[in-house]
Amino acid sequence: MSITFHEKEQIFKLDTKNTTYAIGIVDEDKFLGHIYYGARLDDYRIGYLMRISENPFVPSENNRDRVSFLDSFAMEYPTHGLGDYRESCISIRTLNGNMGLSLSYVSHKITEGKTSFEGLPSSFGSREECSVLEILCEDKVTGLQAVLQYGVFDDVDVITRSVKVMNNGQEAVYLTKVYSACLDMDNQDFEAVSLHGSWARERQIQSVPVSHGKYSVESIRGESSHQDHPFMALKTKNGTQETGEVYAMHFVYSGNFKVQVQSDQFDQVRMVMGIHPEGFTWKLEKGEAFQAPEVVMVYSGEGLGKMSRTFHDFYRKHLIRSEYKDKKRPVLINNWEATYFEFDTEKLIAIAREASQLGIEMLVMDDGWFGSRCDDNRALGDWYVNEDKLKGGLKYLVDEVNKLGMKFGIWFEPEMISPDSDLYRSHPDWAIAIPGRKASLCRNQYVLDLTRKEVRDYAYECVAKILRSANIEYVKWDMNRQLSDLGSLELPADRMGELYHRYVLAVYEMQERLIQEFPHLLLENCSGGGARFDPGMLYYSPQIWCSDDTDAIERLKIQEGTALIYPLSAMGAHVSDCPNHTVGRVTPFETRGYVALAGTFGYELDVTKIPEEDRNMIPEQVAMYHKYNDLVREGDYYRIASYAENHYFDCYGVVSKDKKEALYTFVQVLNRPNCHSRRIKLQGLAPEKTYRIEGEDNTYTGELLMKAGINIQNPWGDFKGQLIHLVEE
Ligand code: GLA
Repeated sequence: MSITFHEKEQIFKLDTKNTTYAIGIVDEDKFLGHIYYGARLDDYRIGYLMRISENPFVPSENNRDRVSFLDSFAMEYPTHGLGDYRESCISIRTLNGNMGLSLSYVSHKITEGKTSFEGLPSSFGSREECSVLEILCEDKVTGLQAVLQYGVFDDVDVITRSVKVMNNGQEAVYLTKVYSACLDMDNQDFEAVSLHGSWARERQIQSVPVSHGKYSVESIRGESSHQDHPFMALKTKNGTQETGEVYAMHFVYSGNFKVQVQSDQFDQVRMVMGIHPEGFTWKLEKGEAFQAPEVVMVYSGEGLGKMSRTFHDFYRKHLIRSEYKDKKRPVLINNWEATYFEFDTEKLIAIAREASQLGIEMLVMDDGWFGSRCDDNRALGDWYVNEDKLKGGLKYLVDEVNKLGMKFGIWFEPEMISPDSDLYRSHPDWAIAIPGRKASLCRNQYVLDLTRKEVRDYAYECVAKILRSANIEYVKWDMNRQLSDLGSLELPADRMGELYHRYVLAVYEMQERLIQEFPHLLLENCSGGGARFDPGMLYYSPQIWCSDDTDAIERLKIQEGTALIYPLSAMGAHVSDCPNHTVGRVTPFETRGYVALAGTFGYELDVTKIPEEDRNMIPEQVAMYHKYNDLVREGDYYRIASYAENHYFDCYGVVSKDKKEALYTFVQVLNRPNCHSRRIKLQGLAPEKTYRIEGEDNTYTGELLMKAGINIQNPWGDFKGQLIHLVEE
């Protein structure tokens, strides 16, 4: 049993292989207190940590100072308005305008096998893999109930959290904030690690000291965003890849979010995560329920590296559903950077013909194949094939590509509408906009109001009809602008605050429908590069386009930040042409291949035009992908050196679960004079095993390779990469 309730002590103990999480019920008010999260404990008698005996303000003893208790006690799910002045997790407004609520324990239920959340992405696990604890709490005054939900994944050291709020009262209530998780802890001189970015510069790692006050990472863009990421890890000061304690939260959600850490007057730390309250209200009629999205929590006692590997295992095993998750993805060639909007059937077939001879396995036709889409100013919404470009129609093109032995994939942006489109001319009211106010454009487009069923059905059918018309085996689902001007014609005034969340639910519904109707489809999500790279999307697509920046050197940082949480199998990565279209940098074709190898691998260039020596390298690169992809997709990831930190070189490795094989990638970004070789200590090997480095005769023990390391010869020039492949002797 990984969840136990100790009746006498009134303590819940949640155990995974290496971690323990404990909750206690206290006082006559039956508050739920957070007791412990950390390394696995066998002893459950940890109630003393709740500081009840030393707290002079426990309400049953000293109701005179109730506020002092509420403002200092480590709460499991803090509420707003009654005296806990730290960040709360839930706030409400009743019909008569009152705020404030207090949640007390009522009952609990322990079951085996992970429960899913209707309409929302959520982790899954069998009875053997996951136990679930549901604690029912109630606010006696309003009748509002909250079920605190915990998934305990014994095998991968993960605890998931969420909350379902139910209106058991006599009249409607407005939820003005519902976060999904809270962690109250004593300060341990934490540093908050988060990911920030911008278009073409997503998921850069940042670490700042936690100090008094609040520090938050958030999006109110309607998507998880380029700029911030629904993730935060608190690591003990100076913690490294291998050392220090780490407490991390990651949100399985693709819309507005907030994650915040706060250090209070007593040096206690509160970390919360959930849907961003700005612009959010949810009307809960009597008898209705609201399910908040899931948070994945990881504790690592062995630094950030262990945290990353735990998230990777969890997502590969318990979140990604596609049949492709454990399979090699076809090596694709995408025509975006090759042609942009300038293509026709002939051009695409020429690319496919050349590509197929080089071993590339799928052609993906990107933006520009529909309506009058000759540039990015028009035609979104007009999802019918432009037969001036695609002479003979889509099916002809797909068949021709298939005849070359290649699969065919296609790009859509189903959530959008261009003002210059037939769709907008006939349905101007389908765009999200505030009545009476001209909505702001972004990339010259508006967002469709997918919360309306007829709009959602139209958008879905457009995609499905095209997929039914030919043998299309891959879809890149793009979303190229953030939401603004939140207004919907269908939502009544008192539900307008639901639009952001309803929009995300609508996207989930459409993607669910798509994968149900086309179960063998390989779906890749995308949002102007990586603005919707989040665990919510991973539930529908096994891979997500990482960034519009395909420069190998920029990608080192983007992929490092992404791999901090996501398995390499989820990261869309391609070899593109030089000078790079985003930064103008020229890097060796070989290095571009090595960097893309740490993701799904593919090409984004005009293979008929690139230099012959680069083209000649493609068959070798494709062979390299086939040789290493099983290892890259399924192995354990180790971050050895970060170019973002040291400014000279990058090094990371993937080690097979049985530790019989490993692949390390080294990229020298900046050369240094008079420095002949660099010592690299490998990680993740079995110390007692003996390994041979491919291409060498010598063998080495894992102990030597990890403790003493290897010397990597300093290559001549910048941006030079190399692979170090180790196999057990
Ligand atoms: C986004 C994507 C690109 C490409 C373009 C097409 O920016 O990230 O890969 O598909 O849209 O407009």
